[in-house]
Amino acid sequence: MSSLLQNYNRSKLSFKKGKGSFLFSTNGKKYLDFVQGIAVNSLGHANPKLINAINKQSKKIWHVSNAFTIPEGEVLAKKLTKISFADAVLFQNSGAEATEAAIKVARRYFFSKGKKNKNRILCIKNSFHGRTIAAINASGSKKMMEGFGPKIPGFDHFKFGDHKKMEKLITKNTAGIMVEPILGEGGIKVIPTSCLKELRKLCNKKNILLILDEVQCGIGRTGKLFAFEHSNVKPDIVPIAKGIGGGFPIGAVLMTNKIAKSMKPGSHGSTFAGNPLAMSVGNAVIDQIHNKKFLKNISKLSMYFIDELNKIKKKYPNIIKDIRGKGYLLGIQLFKDQTKFVNKLKDKRLLTIKANENVIRLLPPLNVKKSELKIALNIINEVCSKL
Ligand SMILES: Cc1ncc(COP(=O)(O)O)c(C=O)c1O
Repeated sequence: MSSLLQNYNRSKLSFKKGKGSFLFSTNGKKYLDFVQGIAVNSLGHANPKLINAINKQSKKIWHVSNAFTIPEGEVLAKKLTKISFADAVLFQNSGAEATEAAIKVARRYFFSKGKKNKNRILCIKNSFHGRTIAAINASGSKKMMEGFGPKIPGFDHFKFGDHKKMEKLITKNTAGIMVEPILGEGGIKVIPTSCLKELRKLCNKKNILLILDEVQCGIGRTGKLFAFEHSNVKPDIVPIAKGIGGGFPIGAVLMTNKIAKSMKPGSHGSTFAGNPLAMSVGNAVIDQIHNKKFLKNISKLSMYFIDELNKIKKKYPNIIKDIRGKGYLLGIQLFKDQTKFVNKLKDKRLLTIKANENVIRLLPPLNVKKSELKIALNIINEVCSKL
């Protein structure tokens, strides 16, 4: 009997090692891993450059307090600002901490302008921003909130695509609109380019900050460094996590200078955030992903994969309802509950993970090979043919 808190419906499957796109189970089986820690291992398992970075750093220094300068963090922050809209970076340890901090900096910005009541955050109902108290309130999911009341004030929600309701909910007290450019847990739902552009315009018009949660869709996952780049919009605040650590827990909030200026020494902090060990891994991840050729290859290969998935959809129009997503943040939406399908894929040694709306998420590492995509396609095809 496990002594772990039973807050997950865990599979009995466990692993002894991983290499690139593959995992090797403790009972001697090889699996193609298209979960990758839920879009975390952006460069696959046991990436040699990441191993080298962490080994090197581990012999020097693991952790120092943020009371001191951390050169590895200075370097990573500089890189992130150089390659993005941001002027400043706040490191955190996870996605939920990053979205929490994003909410904090948005509120603090208006507070510093003397607008103390401009603090409400508008979000999509049943989106996913993490599991802290603020993050579950932001996500607006009844299921996630169950037993964790009281509901905290300061959050408003509209249904995905309900622009009218969204505009109605905007008041003089709205500080920020926080959305995922692609809803991950919500079922790989892409916010169309035109909507993101309109959202930006609306935020400008109403003096509201645009917070784009790129925890799941950022850091190369969609073939651009950030998913919002597909729409050519410039956000104000962007929480990231998952892919930036390549398997090491890192979160961060990117923000423009005007917002950064409202945060003062002491207004936010975290013991572990941005420690040298984390930062050395983050630097090695960014150095590999922020590379034109690497990102272009994601776009090219993922297009092939999406095309092939659509061919399978066409072949099995009664099983597959939709192929969703961008790059390697992909979903196969079924007409029925997807649990059986996911288990059949697992039996054939392809690991995938569920999302809302009967969606099976496919999250290969960003350096997945074409031959590995072909293995996955064959397995998906086979499962469809025998359903
Ligand atoms: C869009 C988004 N935001 C926030 C989070 C929370 O991240 P974490 O689980 O690291 O706290 C997630 C996690 O899946 C996510 O997908």
